[in-house]
Amino acid sequence: MTKTIFVTRQIPEIGIKMLRDKGYTVDVRDKDSMPTQKELIKALKKKPYDAVVSLLTDTVDAKLFEAVSSAKIFVNYASGYDNVDTIEATKRGIIIANAPAISTSEAVAEHTFALMLSLAARIVEADEFVRRGKYKGWEPMNFIGTDILGKTLGLIGAGRIGSQVAHYARGFGLKVIYTDLKRNDQIEKESGATFYATPEEILRQADIVSLHVPLMDSTKHLINAERLAMMKKNAFLVNTARGPIIDEVALVEALKNKTIAGAGLDVFEFEPKLVKGLMKLENVILTPHIASASDTARNEMSRLVADNIIAFFEGKIPPNKVN
Ligand code: GLV
Repeated sequence: MTKTIFVTRQIPEIGIKMLRDKGYTVDVRDKDSMPTQKELIKALKKKPYDAVVSLLTDTVDAKLFEAVSSAKIFVNYASGYDNVDTIEATKRGIIIANAPAISTSEAVAEHTFALMLSLAARIVEADEFVRRGKYKGWEPMNFIGTDILGKTLGLIGAGRIGSQVAHYARGFGLKVIYTDLKRNDQIEKESGATFYATPEEILRQADIVSLHVPLMDSTKHLINAERLAMMKKNAFLVNTARGPIIDEVALVEALKNKTIAGAGLDVFEFEPKLVKGLMKLENVILTPHIASASDTARNEMSRLVADNIIAFFEGKIPPNKVN
């Protein structure tokens, strides 16, 4: 029997082609909108699918596993897999894999820098000023920002992405400090980063704080009102990890009261919704969860998804199995 795979939304063609070239049937959900869970369940009940490719916006839980009990592997087209109930999957003997493409670390690290530099140089405010026709000539006192050379970059999380950010930071002349559950010799050797045992030490010292931890019970609201108050008044906070790591209501207050100088956010606590007041603030830059959206990264993610499914169907352990 031909293996059949359901993909919850269009992803770059390269991985789909790899699967079809193997002779598998691939059904890509034909609507380009975010499916509700009800819709997904309905679609999955149509055929006894052998594998499912999910997205980080899909809630992959017992109800979904129930709807397609024939599928013994779910591959999440993302590095993060906090949307997947891996414990429930393991209980049911279902394999979960993700797509942590190397180029996604590069893309996310580049986006992190784009946010940092845009905050420091006030790029978004300045762009809006020009577009609104307000630019009447060079001004000695207009849009005075800050430079990042010689500043301290504090990384909370020093895995693949945090390490890549540290790597780029050297070129910008930033001093890097970091915290993680354990020390990372490589980041210390290659990027001269200094380890601190707690996030509090990072928050107190850094001029720019960048978050690179996964979302777990222990990292939810890691950045709350109390911790925001520990940051320097001139500090920027950048989040390209997961929204709920920051208590967004507390962040709006901190930005309003100038407890910190600004924030660059690619992810949101209740995305796609933003908490009240966030959009009105001038000292915040908002991008719609696109940090990994480089052509290279997204194609590599698509290839990885296919690699994992092919490995599984060929009786091997999927290279990115997470449970
Ligand atoms: C994006 O957020 C990802 O986890 O790949």
